[in-house]
Amino acid sequence: MKQSICSLLGIKLPIISGGMVWCSGHKLAAAVSLSGGLGLIGAGSMHPETLRQHIQKIKVTLGNTPFGVNIPLFYPELETLIYILTEEKVPVVVTSGGNPALYTQRLKETGAIVMHVIASVKFAKKAAEAGVDAVIAEGFEAGGHNGRDELPTMILTPMVAQAVDIPVIAAGGIAQGCQWLAAEALGANGIQIGSLFAVSEESSAHQNFKELCLTLGENSTHLSLKGLSPVRLIKNEFFARVNEAEARGASKEEITEILGRGRAKKGIFEGDLVEGELEIGQNIAMINEVKPVKEMVEILIEQYNEAKLNLK
Ligand SMILES: Cc1cc2nc3c(=O)[nH]c(=O)nc-3n(C[C@H](O)[C@H](O)[C@H](O)COP(=O)(O)O)c2cc1C
Repeated sequence: MKQSICSLLGIKLPIISGGMVWCSGHKLAAAVSLSGGLGLIGAGSMHPETLRQHIQKIKVTLGNTPFGVNIPLFYPELETLIYILTEEKVPVVVTSGGNPALYTQRLKETGAIVMHVIASVKFAKKAAEAGVDAVIAEGFEAGGHNGRDELPTMILTPMVAQAVDIPVIAAGGIAQGCQWLAAEALGANGIQIGSLFAVSEESSAHQNFKELCLTLGENSTHLSLKGLSPVRLIKNEFFARVNEAEARGASKEEITEILGRGRAKKGIFEGDLVEGELEIGQNIAMINEVKPVKEMVEILIEQYNEAKLNLK
């Protein structure tokens, strides 16, 4: 039997809030950890010294309550970030989007628990070989960057759970208690939630972005930029330009040019709903209200218990 995520991470609820560019600063991460889960600061949109400030702030808020930091491994100043994580003795590090063999042992030597996000069985096995403590299996429903093979959580989770001996956390498409329970039935030892917490009160996303998200229906996002780095986007004007270019077989160079720089910041953080890159998961169609994290977690628990009763 695999180790429980709660005992591995020293938390009460097997719920992790995913690292999310422009959404998950110290406020969101702290709110999730204080609600009994594990909050992650998303370093992907932070300069190294900004990350250090967020880590120092969350330590003041949380005391000994655990938290973590997510680092996309394609980050340009990776060495500096890793140095900050080890110096600040961050208890949990979640790496994503690269080779986990690069830093896992170094982080573990400083006492960190290391988990890696994967979107296929092949990479789950590689992460396990690299010595990570758990893998986060992210299905293609998820917000943010995603696997090219488009494996949904329903298929990815049991395949990964059966392929590796370490704990597996399911991510992608989980916004209600019934989906949490389903993830457990699929073999997950815990869940990672992104989109729901991206529209929480504590998320640092712009109010425009949150309000737009609440209006979205079941056909509002698309896995785009598959030639460069697949990412699930809301279908706004910027998306339409990218989509048109991809459909006519535009070169990587042209698509990179359309993408430009700072698009996710423009959209998610500055609230430019026309020109911004707006990342969110398919489950946004099920989310209708901005709420504080504590309330969201209480509702998830209620729904989880109700779903369990309904199975009897
Ligand atoms: C706005 C947004 C930004 C994200 N940024 C990151 C990131 O920087 N690093 C990462 O590993 N995952 C990122 N993700 C993925 C989340 O951490 C999480 O795994 C995913 O959202 C879970 O699926 P869900 O959106 O269906 O809940 C992002 C997701 C969203 C919605």
